[in-house]
Amino acid sequence: MVDDGAFIAAARKARRRLPRLLADYIDGGAHGERTMARNRNSFAQWGVVPRALHDVSGIDLTTRCFGRTWKLPVFLAPVGFAGMFHHHGERGAAHAARSRGVGMAISTFAMAPMEKVAATGADVMAQIYVLRDRALTRDMLARAEACGITGIILTVDTAITPVRERDVRNGFRHLSRPTVLQVAGLLNHPAWVAGLLRSGMPVVGNINAYTTVRNVMGQARDVAAKIDPTLDWDDLAWLRETWRGTLVVKGVMCPEDAVRAADAGADGIVVSNHGGRQMDPAPATLDVLPGIAAAVGERLDIMLDSGIRRGADVVTALALGAHAVSIGRPWAWGLAAGGAPGVAAALDALAQETRDVMALAGLCDIAAVRAAGQKALWRF
Ligand SMILES: Cc1cc2nc3c(=O)[nH]c(=O)nc-3n(C[C@H](O)[C@H](O)[C@H](O)COP(=O)(O)O)c2cc1C
Repeated sequence: MVDDGAFIAAARKARRRLPRLLADYIDGGAHGERTMARNRNSFAQWGVVPRALHDVSGIDLTTRCFGRTWKLPVFLAPVGFAGMFHHHGERGAAHAARSRGVGMAISTFAMAPMEKVAATGADVMAQIYVLRDRALTRDMLARAEACGITGIILTVDTAITPVRERDVRNGFRHLSRPTVLQVAGLLNHPAWVAGLLRSGMPVVGNINAYTTVRNVMGQARDVAAKIDPTLDWDDLAWLRETWRGTLVVKGVMCPEDAVRAADAGADGIVVSNHGGRQMDPAPATLDVLPGIAAAVGERLDIMLDSGIRRGADVVTALALGAHAVSIGRPWAWGLAAGGAPGVAAALDALAQETRDVMALAGLCDIAAVRAAGQKALWRF
């Protein structure tokens, strides 16, 4: 397993609590999982320079990104099927986000409908795909607007879903017709099963209305097949005209695409390789960040994800041009291991470490980290 940093204990606990096929679904990546490893290795190549004799009695982590203000520069990335990891589900994660003053994305494949997640009062954004049938996409946008969601995140690195070898081994995508072995594997985790069945058979609540299938994996397969693989930059322009709120494009990995997103009127981008779950091998997000920040840093807010596990990773990403970062697996592990308090613990661990690193680097707030840039860092 790659270095899971501050989250080793939560990841281990999640692995014990969950059936193997779900734990592998969270942990795994595409093909040879080289991108996943590269994401971590890239952070390991940077150090933060200790600075002496600065007044660091007040470290302020307040962050502005995508027109929002958060208490930490850490956002909860969209994670599909989170309601399968723990019965607190996406609503539990949203409560944790709210309690810690950070934002969160609701995956298209959330088990809880976006309306219920938004009702927690957390600062949520809706992650969307553009479906072949634009009426369905329009419906998602209308639902978001109706429940007070003011920002959407369009994921653009999923024109296809590549082979994820762990999922293939476990038969994850064929769970609608489970084998005897799969059923035995699920029943081996009674606490998880009892939690899951508290409110009946699970369905992917956020997309329930867009499919007639009524089992989780069947629903996911059906709606995933409706994602429009012909999507191009003209469609982004269409989305910009259709959606008046904040529009963020997730999955940008090169300066040329970042400039096109800015030209199409996006408000922000997420530099992301989907945590190594899509293109393999792809560059690490940290490695492409400086070029992207140089190209569009003045025009767009930039969030970075894929491999953030430590406070030092947060500081490094901000110093290299990100306005904020997001985490996927760390909050999924936290949720699986301990429900909403587990997600809060993941955020607390990152906040504490980020504060430590900033204090020892003589950097009192996020603006100082960003202004120091590479001067705050050391490349090993
Ligand atoms: C279990 C899992 C499910 C995910 N589901 C989605 C999704 O539905 N939509 C999306 O845009 N990204 C999804 N992602 C990608 C995350 O939003 C994020 O880009 C990635 O997890 C960041 O890398 P990290 O896990 O190393 O922090 C998922 C990631 C994981 C681990």
